[in-house]
Amino acid sequence: MTETKKTVLITGATGFIGRRLASLLVDRYAVRCLVRDAARAKGLLPAGIELVQGDMTDAASLKAAAAGADAVVHLAARKGDEPDIVAVNVGGAHNLIEACRAAGVRRVINIGSQASRLERRGAYGETKARSDEAFAASGLEVTTLVPSLVYGPNDPGVFGKLARVTVSAPFVPVIGDGSVRFQPVHADDVCAVVAGCLAEPRTIGKTYAVGGPQSVTLAGLIDMIGASLGKKPLKVHLPYWAAMGIARVLGLFLASPPLSVSNVTGAVQSAHDADYAAVFAELGLRPRPLAEGLKDALA
Ligand SMILES: NC(=O)c1ccc[n+]([C@@H]2O[C@H](COP(=O)([O-])OP(=O)(O)OC[C@H]3O[C@@H](n4cnc5c(N)ncnc54)[C@H](OP(=O)(O)O)[C@@H]3O)[C@@H](O)[C@H]2O)c1
Repeated sequence: MTETKKTVLITGATGFIGRRLASLLVDRYAVRCLVRDAARAKGLLPAGIELVQGDMTDAASLKAAAAGADAVVHLAARKGDEPDIVAVNVGGAHNLIEACRAAGVRRVINIGSQASRLERRGAYGETKARSDEAFAASGLEVTTLVPSLVYGPNDPGVFGKLARVTVSAPFVPVIGDGSVRFQPVHADDVCAVVAGCLAEPRTIGKTYAVGGPQSVTLAGLIDMIGASLGKKPLKVHLPYWAAMGIARVLGLFLASPPLSVSNVTGAVQSAHDADYAAVFAELGLRPRPLAEGLKDALA
């Protein structure tokens, strides 16, 4: 007799991490993805995935997407201080919780961000913190994962921008003195943790930091990216106030600025210390060394 696969709904599946997660889960689960543009999503996601058109700000679409699901992995987020960041990150979390309750879905893997752990948070960190609080208070069976900087191939985010500038520009601008610390983690290692948590009920009710095995400064990461590409990047330091000024001006004119106020605050503050290895140990996984992961990410 063939066993019916459990249905997992993924929000944010068309994003950098979501695409890799959908590819990982598609063999183990019936994967359903909430997407804003089904035609575009079809070109980005592997075959065999059910697409449900919707939006985090549209409560009815979330209810339709959650109906009949066994679990939800919540990745969808605005990350660049966009005008609708509160509606998507906070309102969307509440909409998703309501949808889960209405559909009787108990299990949720919520993806947070280290930006919520900074002393001075930008809009991104603030909204991610409020989203995490909503899930913690939801009464659902939630595991919250709080990744450090996530890197991997085809990243449109911070790591990808650093890599592209290192490849193509004569110098790499570094906000502040470059001493801010990250624990970069490969996107596939984050996805392995998500899959592990889905399969492991012991992770219910817990919040885990997720980071790779190596702590590195921003300046050190740029050097490692350079080394991986056979280059010695010239780092030009941009004072905090100048970067903040640029981000504020860009924010006045662009809905999704390439440098946001949250990017700048995140570039000069290290998140509070956390046990990045605990979730890997608990799930019997091992995150790849940074130098090895960078080779894959930059290939
Ligand atoms: N990347 C990192 O370094 C990192 C680090 C820590 C935590 N995280 C967290 O991990 C999650 C995924 O990050 P990512 O880097 O993969 O992000 P991403 O590439 O920017 O993808 C964001 C996803 O959210 C979707 N989305 C945005 N607004 C939406 C809305 N109104 N309704 C429905 N979907 C919407 C996007 O859909 P469209 O394709 O339609 O735009 C996309 O699928 C986020 O929660 C982020 O906070 C990321």
